[in-house]
This record gives sequence, C-alpha cells and structure tokens, in this order.
Amino acid sequence: MDLLLQQIATATTYLQSFPFEQPRVGVVLGTGLGELVNHLKIAHTIPYQQIPHFPESTVEFHKGNLILGHIGNTPVIAMQGRFHYYEGYTMQQITFPIRVMKALGIEQLLLSNAAGGMNPSYKKGDLILLEDHINMQPENPLRGLNSAAYGPRFPDMSCPYNPALGEKLQAVATALGAPLKSGVYVSVMGPNLETRAEYRFLRMMGADLVGMSTVPEVIVANQLQLPCAAVSVVTDECDPDNLHPVSIEEIIAVAGKADKLLSSVFAGVIAGL
Ligand code: HPA
Repeated sequence: MDLLLQQIATATTYLQSFPFEQPRVGVVLGTGLGELVNHLKIAHTIPYQQIPHFPESTVEFHKGNLILGHIGNTPVIAMQGRFHYYEGYTMQQITFPIRVMKALGIEQLLLSNAAGGMNPSYKKGDLILLEDHINMQPENPLRGLNSAAYGPRFPDMSCPYNPALGEKLQAVATALGAPLKSGVYVSVMGPNLETRAEYRFLRMMGADLVGMSTVPEVIVANQLQLPCAAVSVVTDECDPDNLHPVSIEEIIAVAGKADKLLSSVFAGVIAGL
C-alpha cells in the first residue's frame, strides 16, 4: 500500500476508536470562524497533535482541533482550524484531513474562509457563496503518483461546488434575512496580502474574492467525488484605487463579527441533511 494510503488508514482507525457514529458531514472552519462549535453537541474534541500524521496548525489564531458532535440529529466532524500552504506544508499535508474525513464516511463537506472582496459590490462582513474558483496556488494536491484509491487522475472540475448544497445554504441564509451573494474565489499562496497591482490583476482574471485556502481542499474533495460547498466572509475591501492598509487583526475581527450568521447558516443546513 502506498504511504499516503497507509497514513490515511492509520489516522482513520485512530479516529474510529472514539465512541461515535459515522459522521455524515465534514466542516472546515476558516480564519476567525469558530462559532459553529456553539451549535454542536460535542462528543469529542481531539487536538490535531494527537491524530497520527495530522500536521499541526502553526498559525496562532487557528485552533487545532477535530471535533465530533451532532447538529440536530446529524453527526458532524468539524475542523477547528485548517492548514495552509504558506505554513510550509505540502499540498498533500494540507488536504490530508479531507481524505481522512472521507474515509470516515462523510457524504458532504462545507468549508468557510476569510477572503478579500475585490468585487466592488461586496462590503466587509458579507457572506459569499463560492460559485467557482481559480487556482493560483503554486502547487497542486494531486501532483505525484496517483493511486486509483485516491480517485481519478484527471478529475473533472466543470462544477466544483455542489449546486444543491449551495441552494440549501442560500435558502437558510435567506430565511435568516441575509441572502448570500455569490462569486468566484481565487486562491493565492500568501502569506502577504496583495499589492494594488495584484488586486487589479486578480480582478481582471475574473475573480471576485481572494484568499489563501480552500481551493486545494476543494480539488481533493472533487477527486474524492465528495459534494462540497464553500462560503467566504469578506474581511477587507480590496479596491486598488482606494486601498487602505489592513492587518490580520482587523481581518480576524471582521470575520468574528460575521461568524454568528455564517455559523447559523451552516448549522441550519447541517441540521436538515
Ligand atoms: N488577500 C488574501 N487573502 C485574504 C485577504 C486578502 O485581501 N483577506 C483575507 N484573506
């Protein structure tokens, strides 16, 4: 068996040793977006460093726990904090948890992130449903030998975000009085934020939002044929003609304010799955 498959099997067996039913939904919580935990009836909180072959989150504002619990009657596995390429991990490492969650049995995946809003109609704190993405990360999680067990060598990406799951998110958000906007997310390596010229360039490419995550995980989810949906919180307005300096503290503060609504939207969808 190849090394990655062995590592997936070891991590999966470890997580199956916790008394809990098979999780049906996986969730990845992005920067400053941990509030969903308050909707969870938590059964187990497992620090990443206890899980075989899991990388450790190196970003101090990202918690590093895998949580098993229920929202309504739906068994959920939630990642409180994710891994980024800019932390120095390989693409295979940052997407390892997605493969493990799939091996544990999840049928759907929800992701969140903090992103810069380049579409001028977006405002700080808006929630944006990803309709598509552009991969500008310098690496691809599917590069390298591809065991048939990983999924197809050349996964189709004509519809990377599941429309039915997107519609459910939109329906819950609308019922909460806060309909989602939608947009195209471009993923860059970071960790620096962009220059004015880069925002202009990324906007010209057709992107509405820019961030440093999500796309590698979505590529792997598509290879695994795991339906997924993602929502970004606009944490800064990236108008190259009127750009203000922005700090990570401000990004986290804005994400924190939108977190309650985002978490209610996710929880509403998950409870109905
Ligand atoms: N650029 C890249 N990543 C980000 C941004 C941004 O402006 N805001 C939040 N994450």
